Amino acid sequence: MSDGFSLSDALPASNNPNPSAPQPQGWPSWGNQPGAFPAFPGPPGTFPGAPGAYPGGPAGPGPYPGAPGPYPGAFPGAPGAFPGAPAGPGPHPVPGQPPSDPGFGAPPAQGGPAPPLKVPFELPLQAGLVPRLLITITGTINPKPNRFSLDFKKGNDIAFHFNPRFNEDNRKVIVCNSMFQNIWGKEERTAPRFPFEAGKPFKLQVLCEVDHFKVAVNDAHLLQFNFREKQLKEVTKLCIAGDITLTSVMPTMI
Ligand code: GAL
Repeated sequence: MSDGFSLSDALPASNNPNPSAPQPQGWPSWGNQPGAFPAFPGPPGTFPGAPGAYPGGPAGPGPYPGAPGPYPGAFPGAPGAFPGAPAGPGPHPVPGQPPSDPGFGAPPAQGGPAPPLKVPFELPLQAGLVPRLLITITGTINPKPNRFSLDFKKGNDIAFHFNPRFNEDNRKVIVCNSMFQNIWGKEERTAPRFPFEAGKPFKLQVLCEVDHFKVAVNDAHLLQFNFREKQLKEVTKLCIAGDITLTSVMPTMI
């Protein structure tokens, strides 16, 4: 929050001064109140929703360009190809990305659940961060979690560290930060709630906007984090680590 600080950055999302501002397609509205979204319906151990299948959202975003080549268990289909998901408008091409490679860990075409992805997991972002890049991560929190993290990295620097901690002095807290030249910046601990639960499946989405990240969990907006690193294109890796079982990681453009 060092640069470009504004009032809205300091407010929990539920206090956002412009709650009716139009959201990008495929992103949940600002509404955070209980009841604003359908209850997260999945039984423990399975995540029911297809990535991109937000309630009321568009049928399906397109692939993010520049994902790596074929990956064991990679989901081969275009938007809308998930069972139960409506047909989508088709991929939104992004420079440098093959259109047929939208994600990791989705069910194989033959059916049956994909094996979990190995954690720590690294997703190369060949085109770097670009506005409207949406990364959808599904998984399950391990039974006795301590922490997990997402790190958007530029080399060794961490542009965005998203770090839910399940037991910090007996409290649950989400810590966001950045790290430049091995030095952590100022922590942001303003998340208005802690939406993760031991043993439960989750859908975590990070949307890259023009000057901040938005994070939503289980289809409800959670927080935003203003860019500290301005060279978005050089943020070319997402690392996922910690006490989760990872089901899928899918970069798309919305
Ligand atoms: C440190 C912790 C790091 C990172 C950082 C965020 O205390 O060791 O892993 O979470 O806080 O500020």
